[in-house]
Amino acid sequence: LKTLIVNFKNYPEAMGDGGVRLARAVARVAADVGVRGIIAPPAPMLALVAANTTALVYSQDVGTEAGEKTTGAVVPEAVRAAGAKGTILNHSESRKPAAVLRRLFPRLAGMEVCLCARTSAEAARLSELQPTYVAVEPPELIGSGVAVSKAKPSLVRDTVERVRSMGYGGGVLCGAGIVTGDDVRKAVELGADGVLVASSVVKSRDWGAKLRELAGPLV
Ligand code: G3P
Repeated sequence: LKTLIVNFKNYPEAMGDGGVRLARAVARVAADVGVRGIIAPPAPMLALVAANTTALVYSQDVGTEAGEKTTGAVVPEAVRAAGAKGTILNHSESRKPAAVLRRLFPRLAGMEVCLCARTSAEAARLSELQPTYVAVEPPELIGSGVAVSKAKPSLVRDTVERVRSMGYGGGVLCGAGIVTGDDVRKAVELGADGVLVASSVVKSRDWGAKLRELAGPLV
C-alpha cells in the first residue's frame, strides 16, 4: 500500500473537533481508496483523536528530553501512551542534530517513524537508522503550492536512488507544495511510495474531495 500522511501542523481548522472530523475523513478515504492514511495532529490532540477515530495517528514530533522529571516536554513515552502509533521526526520546521536523532531512536522502539530530510544526501545518511519512512521535503516549497514532484523531480528521484543504494527497504515519501492529484501522480512516477501533505488538505473547503483527489493516484 502506498502512504498518504496528512500533517495537521497547527492550522486552526484542525484543532479540537475539526481535528477529529479531519482524522475521520482521512481514515474513511484511506479505507475506501486503498491507501495507508496517517494523520499527525498537534500533540495536545493525540489522545482525543486516537480515542475517537480509527485513524493511524502519528505525533508531529517528539522531544528529546530524557527521564521522567521533565516538565512540558512531549516525550516518546507519552506519545505512545496517548495511542499514537508513530511520529514524524526531524521535520524541516523542527530539525534535530543527527546525534540527537540517533539517541532518540531506541526510545521509539515498536513505534513507526517518518524521518524527514531536506536533501537526498541527508535522506541517505538518515536512512541508516531504518525508520519506517524517509521523507524528503525541500523547505522552500513547504506551503508554497508549488509541488516538489514538479519543481524538483531530480530531488525525489535521487533520494529514492540514494536510500535504496544504502540498502534501505522502508517507504520513501516526498512532500512540500503538493496540492493536486497530478502532483501525487508525478511523485509516484519518480519512485515515491507516498506523499506528505499539509496545507492543501487542511485548508481545503471539502476535505473528502481533496483527500480523494490526492489518494487516487496512489493506487
Ligand atoms: O509535513 C508536510 C508539510 O511540510 C508539507 O506542507 O503545506 O506544503 O503540504 P505543505
